[in-house]
Amino acid sequence: MSERFRIVGGAHLKGEVHVPGAKNSVLKLMAATLLAPGKNTITNVPDILDVEIMIELLERLGCTVNRLQGKVEITVPENPEHRADYELVRKIRASINVLGPLTVRVGAADVALPGGDAIGPRPLDIHIKGLEALGAKVHIEHGYIVTEAPNGLDGATIELDFPSVGATENIMMAAVLARGTTVIDNAAREPDIVDIGNFLIEMGAKISGLGSTTITIEGVKKLNPATHATLPDRIITGTWAFAAAITQGDITIKGARADHLEIPLEKLTNAGAVVTTIEDGIRVHMEHRPKAIDVATLPYPGFPTDLQPMVVAMNAIAEGDAIVTENVFQGRFMFVNELSRLGAKITVDGHHAAICGIPQLSGAPVVATDIRAGVGLVLAGLVADGETIVEDAFHIDRGFPNFAEQLQALGADVKRI
Ligand code: UD1
Repeated sequence: MSERFRIVGGAHLKGEVHVPGAKNSVLKLMAATLLAPGKNTITNVPDILDVEIMIELLERLGCTVNRLQGKVEITVPENPEHRADYELVRKIRASINVLGPLTVRVGAADVALPGGDAIGPRPLDIHIKGLEALGAKVHIEHGYIVTEAPNGLDGATIELDFPSVGATENIMMAAVLARGTTVIDNAAREPDIVDIGNFLIEMGAKISGLGSTTITIEGVKKLNPATHATLPDRIITGTWAFAAAITQGDITIKGARADHLEIPLEKLTNAGAVVTTIEDGIRVHMEHRPKAIDVATLPYPGFPTDLQPMVVAMNAIAEGDAIVTENVFQGRFMFVNELSRLGAKITVDGHHAAICGIPQLSGAPVVATDIRAGVGLVLAGLVADGETIVEDAFHIDRGFPNFAEQLQALGADVKRI
């Protein structure tokens, strides 16, 4: 039987937490090392399962990986392998990020299609179109994306149909070693993209426009290994901020970057929380029941889709009614059925959820369907009467190191069973 969280609601969370390195950045930083033969070092590495899986994938590709406390050393061979098997790829979607680096460095990649996800379909057409624009031949064969570029890649101007985070990263990582200039228009602007771009620059890549909608890359012949610290996880930061607001608590979040969360923090202020920027972090304090807030998820700098379950959970116990609109992943309201089992009053119509706040939820067994939904359900359990069991805790472990232990330290009655 898989692990589960047992939560008894009622605590006001109080205390201090430290934000680890970002999952969505570290996995791509690890993939990017494939571009530079020799020993690369990544620090501020979070202690999560996805990092272990990425290490296994890099080892299969011929790298030697040394995992130390909070860091990984990745020694990349001159000629890496180029096949990423389904058995690993299906466990973490970020493994698709080896596609760009392998195509340009090895001239070929065989990467299994990651398949479906509990947050809806996740096509790869924008990644594929981008690599094709750089001159790679791409086709799907027996469940694998197969790329060929035996003579290398050539820079091109590419306009993305949507500012996809993964596609921007894959195209940028391929373009750094392509001949000539690549321009990515309608590029994603997430802090993770800036972090990966900065790592590539430290390796010797020539990139400008990071964090804007147009990224320009001048290809270079070779990259050198580098050392880089992963940026702090803004989704974990945001989760603690919502945890403070939902439980009428007071949490100091050390290592947090308030500038990466402007809209979520503004929304929390509208809900009645007091958000203070302190040295090396932020403090979120809530004295009363939150007020309902309308939110629409959008690519960065908009409200992050990864914090949508947390804002839905908060609105479920808020004073008033709210509409939450999901604009990034169409299937991301699937967890709402689980939240309804705790008594939440939510009606979903397409990509809108209408939430009628009630004073208290009522504990019940629920199932985590993905990382962020699982975290949202745990937050809801913290304000439910009696016992809530969140099944399939492994989803939460994928993105959130020691979540149960940290909640306990803040005063919650939470056990992993
Ligand atoms: C990354 C994050 C994820 C976050 C998301 C949006 C990682 C490992 N995951 O996912 O936590 O929720 O960004 O901030 O970093 N799309 C296409 N075709 C493509 C690519 C994407 O249609 O080729 C669509 C997706 O289906 C989705 C939207 O674009 O509807 C956004 O996806 P994208 O930004 O690519 O997200 P990921 O990189 O997969």
